Formats: sequence, C-alpha cells, structure tokens
Amino acid sequence: MYLTEQEERILGGEEGEGRRLAMELLVAVGEAFDAERMIPITRAHVATSAQEGDTYWASRLADGGARCVVRTTTNPPWDYEFFSGLAELQDWEVSLLHRTVDAYRRLGAVLSFSCTPYVLDNVPSFGEHVAFSESSAPPYVNSVLGARTNREGSPSALAAAVLGRTPYYGLHIEENRKANYVVKVEAPLRGPFDYGLLGIHLGGVVGSGIPYFSGIKGTPSREDLIYLGAELATSGSVAMYHIEGFTPEARLKGNDVIGDAETLEVGIEDLRDTMERWSESGGRISSVILGCPHYTYEQLVEMSRILRGKRIHPSVDLYILTSKHALEMARRSGVLGVIQAAGGRVVADTCIDQPVFRKYERTLGCTDSFKNAYYRRRRGQKFVLADMRTCLEAAFRGEV
Ligand code: F3S
Repeated sequence: MYLTEQEERILGGEEGEGRRLAMELLVAVGEAFDAERMIPITRAHVATSAQEGDTYWASRLADGGARCVVRTTTNPPWDYEFFSGLAELQDWEVSLLHRTVDAYRRLGAVLSFSCTPYVLDNVPSFGEHVAFSESSAPPYVNSVLGARTNREGSPSALAAAVLGRTPYYGLHIEENRKANYVVKVEAPLRGPFDYGLLGIHLGGVVGSGIPYFSGIKGTPSREDLIYLGAELATSGSVAMYHIEGFTPEARLKGNDVIGDAETLEVGIEDLRDTMERWSESGGRISSVILGCPHYTYEQLVEMSRILRGKRIHPSVDLYILTSKHALEMARRSGVLGVIQAAGGRVVADTCIDQPVFRKYERTLGCTDSFKNAYYRRRRGQKFVLADMRTCLEAAFRGEV
C-alpha cells in the first residue's frame, strides 16, 4: 500500500503514539482489502458503546496525544443522570461510562450521543468521503445522501477521525457501488415498521450485497429509510442500496446494476414468514422500548397523538429513546408533556444495548425495531414485533 511521506512519518511515530497506533490500524485494514492508498475524509461518526474494548482503544489514542482532525460525532452510551436511581447498576458499569466519555472528550469528538447523526448534526453531502460506524449509518449515508463510507467499526472510524484519512477501497470506489441484486418489492409498505420488516427479511438473504429495489410505491419518508437501512444492516451487513427513481445514484445513473445481478422477489408471504421467525406470538409484557435507531421529533409527535389523554398500564414501562435535539424540541413544543402524562419515559443519549435495561431481561417486551429485538435477545429479553401504534396499544393493555 502506497503511503505518502507524511503517512510514513506518522507510522514511524514522529507525530505521537496515538496517531501512530491509528495509522498502524488503517494500514492493516488497507492491506487486508488491497487498498492502493489512503484518501482524505471530511467527517466521521464513531459507534461509542461504553464497552470495554472500544473504550480501551479510545483511551490508548487519547493517552498518546491523538485528537480528531475532522468533525466526529459519537453514538449513545447511556444517560447517567436519567438512570441514576432508576436502574440497578454496578460500580464498574458507571465507571466504564465515565471513562468512555472522558476518553472521547480528550479526543476532541463531538459528544452528540445519537445513533442518527446523518439526519441531525453530521450530514455528509453527495460525493463526500467519510468514515461512519454505527450499522444504520452507512446505508443512509451511501444510499440516501450519496456520500461514500465503508461499513466501519468504531476502532477504524476513530482511527480515520484522528488521521483525517481512510484506505481507498470498497464503497469509496465508484465501480463498487453498483447493485448486485435486483429486488422486486411486491408487498405494500405502509410506514417505517414495514420498511424495517423488508430490511430484516432481505439482509438475511443478500448478506453484504447491494440491493436495487424496484416496485416500491410512493415516496419513502426519512423514518422509512432509517428503518430500512438499520434492519438491512442487522440481519445482513448491507452498507448501500438503491431505490429505483428515488435514491440519488439510481436517479443519476438509472438502473446501476452489475451484469450478472441476481433477481429476487419479495411478497407478502415472505414478509409474513420473516415476522413469524422474529416475533414472539404474544402475552403479558413488562416493557415497550422504542427508538432504535433514535426516534425523530416527527415520531415523538406521532406517538403523542396516540398517547394524548391515555395512560399506560401500571405493569408496563414505556421507554422512547431519542436524540437530545428531538427531546428538547419535544419539550419546547409540549409534545414531551403529553408523552410523560401518559406514563412514557423519553430519554436521550442512550442505547438499548446497555445495562440500564437489565431489569427486563428474561421478560417479554414489545418493540417496532428488529434491531432492538436482535440485541436485547442476546441479553435474554424476548419481543413481540409490531408497528408503533400496536406497541402503544399493548402498553395500554399490558399485553399483546
Ligand atoms: Fe441506536 Fe443502540 Fe439501536 S445505537 S440503533 S439504540 S442498538
């Protein structure tokens, strides 16, 4: 892999141990993927998870004097103030949270703590080369915005952030952005949950492929696209898709598909089978957990209309995870008060895959997110999957 003189100096440790470690990692990634050289990036997003491995890496870079040289936002860990006294936490878990925040602060990252930076405060433009981790981010950044990122892990995204570079391979290269699956969608899609269901179904079929969707009726909303990408990247590792006549590269280049692309059809029966595989059939629930990825302000407004004047069942805890920005807008607009009056807990800066939700392990919950169900199942919680309205109706009754 070709390195410039400055990159060689960084690798030799002349610009500090933190930058040397970052360069060592990026060179290893580049060589693994046969990258010919590095290219500059203009922004990054790091999937800060408050898990020991990631925090160790961030601390090593910070201790070695590295600083982010491009705008770098961060994923949510959990909100210490909100959950103090609410969740049963062990000292080491609290300590890990504080060490994580401290490391990223020393690195000069933007402590935004949201998993939807691509619709908030870190939005790349068409054609921009960036390094985004957080599995829901690359599908949105590549497909909807037309910017270019590989599906980074948090260590490689952070290394790219402190060097302002990434190896030139994968989706940074024009010819690698063509679809290798044509997917004819025959099932109707009526909102984010249906788009998520399509994503979770298809990700398991195409793996790391690039689907080109045809047959989707109407114009997908921002929330539809967030759910589609998040779920494609949960059952599979899809980092890019095209939608006929809609996503920018499909509009610019028409049917941008490789010659021997495989054709798939997705009908109602396929989605029904996928639902049966993913969702528990029902029963009494302990929790409804929404906002994975973080709910937008518009979703908070929509749920407030359903919750207005109602009260959730006393045996159910309703959590809605969102960004600080959407939470503040909801507070100012009176939307938050409606949700809280119904018994809902809206929380920012928090991910579902954290110990703060420990008390729901080995119980049944309800959610509109397959990604949430996937991660929390590993912690022993099972879920009924349903759209937002059905989840809220389950919260009123205490069962589904
Ligand atoms: Fe966000 Fe955590 Fe879900 S980062 S997308 S709430 S798994």
